[in-house]
Amino acid sequence: MKLLVTGGCGFIGTNFIRLMLDAHPDWSIVNLDKLTYAGNRLNLLDLEENAPRYEFVHGDICNRELVMDLLNDKRLDAVVNFAAESHVDRSINDPSPFVTTNVGGAQNLMECARQRGIERFVHVSTDEVYGTLGPSGKFTETTPLSPNSPYSASKAGADLMARAYFETYHFPILITRCSNNYGPYQFPEKLIPLMFLSAKADKSLPVYGDGLNVRDWIYVDDHCRGVELTLTKGREGQAYNFGGNAEETNISVVKTMLSILGKPESLITFVTDRPGHDKRYAMDFSLAARELGFAPTLPFSEGLARTVAWYEANGPWLEQVQSGEYRTFMDTWYEERG
Ligand code: NAD
Ligand code: DAU
Repeated sequence: MKLLVTGGCGFIGTNFIRLMLDAHPDWSIVNLDKLTYAGNRLNLLDLEENAPRYEFVHGDICNRELVMDLLNDKRLDAVVNFAAESHVDRSINDPSPFVTTNVGGAQNLMECARQRGIERFVHVSTDEVYGTLGPSGKFTETTPLSPNSPYSASKAGADLMARAYFETYHFPILITRCSNNYGPYQFPEKLIPLMFLSAKADKSLPVYGDGLNVRDWIYVDDHCRGVELTLTKGREGQAYNFGGNAEETNISVVKTMLSILGKPESLITFVTDRPGHDKRYAMDFSLAARELGFAPTLPFSEGLARTVAWYEANGPWLEQVQSGEYRTFMDTWYEERG
């Protein structure tokens, strides 16, 4: 199979490309990435230099001509769309790029793929499209979409477009909705790598609100396997939930990290909450278990220790991804939260 992966220089895309090239000697991958502040070409430089089955293309999923040419010239069979603006806090600051890439870019990819007769298209979405849960229950694929942030609204917009492409054109699209990923290469604006950076520097760890919001954590490789199973076995037109069966409050995640790092809990600072902050996510992934044979494999405690060890061993990577744009956003955002 010849696969177009978009957003492959980001966190999940990088892990996905590495895993797929290892697992499938007969697959080749073209990675189309715009290299926003969150994309890092160096993540996969070893593959660019040594792996004939991998090719990097610098470009935007919103560019109709470029995507059309790529699908044609490279004779691609399938698409996996990871490309997105992915950080909720940035979407609160400025929703526009989220609409442009997450809705417009996704639709452009679908349209180009439809016109080129692409055989399979996996659109990578998120649990956040369902909104928020109370203290009990889990999201299923039939939970109504009820997004609360500009980020999740833009992801829900693309999910609805995907549905419309299936119903209207019988376009062979599948949707994945996964909970919070963690693992190597995650950009240090997200909770776990940000707390790692702060703790290592003995700086305060900014926990939003009361720290009791709950996320369902999944190790990134397990999510990547879910995307792979969807691509190879999923039913066209279907959305599949994926999760880690690992509900944790934010404060508990942060305290565990401090304990792994041997740092004091006095570093924790409760700051002004994120507006529209979803209280709890939890995924019912029984459909993916039944139809695709999916199951998360790594317990959260083991995955977290492995992740912290990866960041410990990759200090230069962490330094290098903190570009000027990263620092400007982070300084302003956290200054405003006190
Ligand atoms: P990320 O921010 O780390 O990476 C996004 C990548 O997309 C970057 O390499 C960036 O350069 C690229 N990109 C952005 N706009 C682009 C454009 N217009 N054209 C081409 N490339 C572009 O994000 P991530 O955490 O790896 O998430 C990947 C996907 O998975 C996203 O669609 C996200 O919504 C979804 N998702 C993420 C999580 C999570 O916990 N991180 C969970 C569920 C779903
Ligand atoms: O659930 C899937 C989603 O997970 C993905 O779709 C998103 O792309 C991804 O960014 C992630 O969204 P979250 O908002 O859940 O992740 P984030 O790491 O930003 O925050 C996790 C929790 O930690 C959330 O409840 C907010 C809280 N938090 C986050 C930051 C950055 C803090 O308390 N302090 C912080 O400084």
